[in-house]
Amino acid sequence: MIVTEDLKTLHRDYVLTPWIAQGNVDVPVIVRGEGFYLYDADGKRYADLSSGLVAVNLGHGHRTVLDAMHAQIDQLCFSPPSWFQDSRAKLAQAIVAISPWGGKEGARVFFTSSGAQSNEDAVKFARMLTGRHKVLTAYRSFHGAAAGAAALTGENRRWSNEPETMPGVVHFWANYPYRSPFHSEEPAVQVERALAHLRDVISAENPDSIAALLIEPVVGSNGVIVPADGYLSGIRAICDEFGILLILDEVMTGFGRTGAAFGAIRFDVVPDMITFAKGVTSAYAPLGGVMVRESLAQAFDTRPLGAGHTYSGHPLNMAAGIGAIAAYHAGNYFERGRTTIEGWLRTKLGKIKDKHELVGDVRGIGAFFALEFVSDRAKRTPLIPWQGKSMGVMPTLFGALRKAGVYAFGRYNLIHIAPPLTVEEAELDEALASLDDAVGQLENAYAASQK
Ligand SMILES: Cc1ncc(COP(=O)(O)O)c(C=O)c1O
Repeated sequence: MIVTEDLKTLHRDYVLTPWIAQGNVDVPVIVRGEGFYLYDADGKRYADLSSGLVAVNLGHGHRTVLDAMHAQIDQLCFSPPSWFQDSRAKLAQAIVAISPWGGKEGARVFFTSSGAQSNEDAVKFARMLTGRHKVLTAYRSFHGAAAGAAALTGENRRWSNEPETMPGVVHFWANYPYRSPFHSEEPAVQVERALAHLRDVISAENPDSIAALLIEPVVGSNGVIVPADGYLSGIRAICDEFGILLILDEVMTGFGRTGAAFGAIRFDVVPDMITFAKGVTSAYAPLGGVMVRESLAQAFDTRPLGAGHTYSGHPLNMAAGIGAIAAYHAGNYFERGRTTIEGWLRTKLGKIKDKHELVGDVRGIGAFFALEFVSDRAKRTPLIPWQGKSMGVMPTLFGALRKAGVYAFGRYNLIHIAPPLTVEEAELDEALASLDDAVGQLENAYAASQK
């Protein structure tokens, strides 16, 4: 019989694990998932407070998605991407129907198999459509880790990709209400200054050379940064003024995370393209895509698209997407983030903040929240430096959570709380009680480190 320690050894010997130094890694071996929970090889249960990587929006093992995938397996597992295929047409229609263009102008979907590919292809489309080559993205952004997407990324997951392989990417400082790079705590002033800065960058870079501006409507793995009112609409107006295409990276925010099918809808901004992945299949199959508004997609009726992958519109991914969208509709899950989960998280995480000085900020929207830890609340001093080399006392938090049976995704002085949209209040309460306790342990570890 293979025991857990053997599986860990196998993993260490044969698998390269993303983002971490490989030696001495000791993490659970996950073998099963059901609803809000993951289970390891010893049968220990972990509440999934971050929906995997903010992706498993329907929780684990949702029957509707599994049934759709099973049925597709028996029927067809591959078809040439350049021929038409039944489930591909149906899924594209279902996605456009819930998009900001649905029932209006319309849109068309190009399928990929990841968020990174989707962003790279969207940039390619923007370059083809405008004849321009530069792309603007925010410093505090993540757009994927493949070479092109890593160049689009603003934060330090870009560094291992340097010198950059995608020329023409220019970064700017975006709105960050808790730590404004524009020296104001007043949202309206922050927005005004952030937009003025963007204008300066555009003018310094030559507006006529800029094809697209790519931005996460809510910054995801860099701390769930919800833009202040007027920021995204201000960006839309500036893009219109200079003929720059606006691409929203909705890889994390799409499919209900912000309390609407897309962040574009929640923030009432109509982009030119939307990139998506993760939640489209509740992460049960590796599907991504680019939605291109109809008025732009028509340009490809008379010229070749110039993009394609072996797995563009892979039948199994299509089936998973069709099943997932049916499940989202059946459970009203696109809205549940706004109607139910947002209120729970704001209140419950707010109580954790009230109790622990170390929590500097609780922020979020829909079912997408983060806690930011500080050593001094008044000065907002980060508990550990952003993008620094040391994790300081933060491992205490994640160790305590793991011990208590909770998984949550974090970076530097942040932890992301983004449960599946299917979560029940009692399940959330139990996991958040463990979070409360773990933050207490973090506080003790920090106090001890200061002696
Ligand atoms: C906003 C955003 N864009 C793109 C990506 C990259 O997606 P993938 O890992 O599927 O390439 C991610 C992944 O977390 C993301 O959060």
